[in-house]
Amino acid sequence: MPATSPPLVNRQILLLNRPAGAPAESDFKMVETPAPVPKEGEVLVRALYLSLDPYMRGRMSERASYARPVALGEVMTGGVVGRVVASRNAAFREGDIVEGILGWQDYALSNGKGLRKIDPRLAPISTALGVLGMPGLTAYFALLELGKPKRGETVVVSAASGAVGGIVGQIAKIMGARAVGTAGSDAKCRYCLEELGYDACVDYRASKDIAADLKRAAPDGIDVYFDNVGGAVSDAVFPLLNLRARVVVCGQISQYNLDKPELGPRLLWHLIRTRARVEGFLVWDYAERYGEALAQLAAWIKDGRIKYKEDVTSGLEQAPLKLIGLLKGENFGKALVKIAD
Ligand SMILES: NC(=O)c1ccc[n+]([C@@H]2O[C@H](COP(=O)([O-])OP(=O)(O)OC[C@H]3O[C@@H](n4cnc5c(N)ncnc54)[C@H](OP(=O)(O)O)[C@@H]3O)[C@@H](O)[C@H]2O)c1
Repeated sequence: MPATSPPLVNRQILLLNRPAGAPAESDFKMVETPAPVPKEGEVLVRALYLSLDPYMRGRMSERASYARPVALGEVMTGGVVGRVVASRNAAFREGDIVEGILGWQDYALSNGKGLRKIDPRLAPISTALGVLGMPGLTAYFALLELGKPKRGETVVVSAASGAVGGIVGQIAKIMGARAVGTAGSDAKCRYCLEELGYDACVDYRASKDIAADLKRAAPDGIDVYFDNVGGAVSDAVFPLLNLRARVVVCGQISQYNLDKPELGPRLLWHLIRTRARVEGFLVWDYAERYGEALAQLAAWIKDGRIKYKEDVTSGLEQAPLKLIGLLKGENFGKALVKIAD
């Protein structure tokens, strides 16, 4: 009789409840199932790194969005870097390192659509989920296509030390602009100034008057506001916008756990005063140009002009707690879960 190996165990994290307000660990459930077997045209991928991203909070809710919500009882969605362990798809071989939306689980099937091959010789494979993945692409296209910073202008970036924000500030500097960040701790602000090259950074959590601190940090006013957070930080930015300013609405993380929109000051008047442009951004809109951005980002990393920071936690079972923490600002750098070596 041929020796048969026991089926691989696939740990999966499912969405159990739609959270009201901040998610809790009890909104998730881990189950174990046998790993699936690829059919003709499919590959089986062993997950190595899982990316945790703010958009995941949106997928837990049924609110109108640009993507469908995760169904109750379904595996949580998420970007993964993994190794092909079985292939019945001619485009992939066993051992290939790939990146794709494969979910919170040890093993996932893919028909190859949306699966990107990663060259492990170019950069650590985890970067395919960060600076050389969706967050890096977001920073690149949102800043350059919508923000359009010019030499000498002032660019303000919220969540300035994060996966997207950290890259935005550095590209702003490469473009010759003054980069001002807002971040949620003294350590994050010091990192922005000392490692990423920001010219100024406001710790909005410690600040007694964010508007006054921002005014000091951006004495010539604000030409580009790259918004990752919304809420109180954006309220402080709008009155400081310059004529023909560009506001890039990339994220609104301060609002993601709210069930009802927060009532804030009504600041649209400043758009008349400044004839500023406010534009929403979605990285998918630039899918056809990802190659161009990845080549440029990789070149900047190689030249030492772009640095990145990862916040890596070990163990798939940690993913719910780390996502809950991300939505409170507990991550410091691109949030990743290491699932296997
Ligand atoms: N539109 C797109 O295509 C697109 C693509 C990717 C990402 N995004 C958006 O970009 C933003 C940044 O994403 P990322 O992946 O780079 O995450 P990240 O910045 O690495 O992590 C999230 C950060 O947001 C800040 N934050 C968390 N809760 C907050 C709150 N209640 N109020 C204010 N700030 C809070 C924290 O930084 P501090 O401690 O500094 O506050 C936290 O570290 C998110 O809003 C995300 O939705 C949009």
